Amino acid sequence: MYPLSALAGRGGLLVNAIVFRGWCLKDFIQGLPKAELHIHLEGSMQPELMFRLAERNSIALRFSSVEALEDAYHFNNLQEFLDLYYEGMQVLITEEDFFDLTWDYLQRAHADRVLHTEMFFDPQAHLERGVAFETVINGIFSAMEAARCELGISSLLILSFLRHLSGAEALSLLKQVDEHLPLFAAVGLDSSEKGNPPEKFEAAFEYARSKGLKAVAHAGEEGPPEYVWGALNALKVDRIDHGNRSLEDPSLIKVLIEQQIPLTICPLSNLRLAVVDDMSDHPLRRMLELGLKVTINSDDPAYFGGYLNDNYRAVEQALSLSVEQLGLIARNSFESAFVKNDVKQEWLSALDSYMCSYQ
Ligand code: ADE
Ligand code: ZN
Repeated sequence: MYPLSALAGRGGLLVNAIVFRGWCLKDFIQGLPKAELHIHLEGSMQPELMFRLAERNSIALRFSSVEALEDAYHFNNLQEFLDLYYEGMQVLITEEDFFDLTWDYLQRAHADRVLHTEMFFDPQAHLERGVAFETVINGIFSAMEAARCELGISSLLILSFLRHLSGAEALSLLKQVDEHLPLFAAVGLDSSEKGNPPEKFEAAFEYARSKGLKAVAHAGEEGPPEYVWGALNALKVDRIDHGNRSLEDPSLIKVLIEQQIPLTICPLSNLRLAVVDDMSDHPLRRMLELGLKVTINSDDPAYFGGYLNDNYRAVEQALSLSVEQLGLIARNSFESAFVKNDVKQEWLSALDSYMCSYQ
């Protein structure tokens, strides 16, 4: 960072204003109360933790060091990332592993002033490796409870189906874990989008909704607007995860605006998975201006170079978002959460007070 005195003189005032804006907004984002609604726990495993768990479980990684692993974090598309993501999660074996993973993420979220988070996990990816469902959820829920008590952070869990598997497998998973379903806030749909339309999962989602669960689905990340329509009409989702490609279909935009369907946008993920070429091309600002209900999220923070505040800062800098726009995004995140209205109101009041202090 340059000292301000070095920037005095011709153009200095303008540069000072830009530097000052950067400083202020960094602090503003840091203190902004917010919710995170799109984060994959398995994608929050830092390379250091992966190495620690590999050692604890006597698993040999094919990377010789943390640096060698990080060097592999260059992706041209979603599938290249997913291949490494599934490989990485093989170090998760015991309840303690799932506890450590979840606890690490919740501490980082708390440090970013996240008051509430709704986290995905991929049970099928663990069951197929012989890890019991109870092992996974016991570890995750223990960490959620510890974080609620020790940090005051609220969290919910979303059971996500792998869309490269069949609809029948998703439905059979739900029936297999029927007794545990009241523990989850929602079901989700993730993994390889192209070639796996939402309609494949209509029966599984119908079953989950009949059990009182909410529904979300990744759609329009790489897949076409038709998949967003499919998520809305066949799966009857309450939120769309990503949804970037909705912008290609004016009639879909109209429905998303009219029904105020939340979109969980993940800026750093979009950059790292080549959904956008450059952050300055990110559609988030346009989405806001159109009146879409957008939120900002980290997706797989350990793989994409940043947690929630890094995502807020990246779009703020690239798109010059205002304090009001950032406040609206935080408001959308609370309004779109799967919690009771009175709880939402408390968070929204905290947000209102914070925004007043920045007038
Ligand atoms: N699983 C983890 N991250 C994902 C993403 N961004 N898209 C689809 N599936 C995922
Ligand atoms: Zn995701």
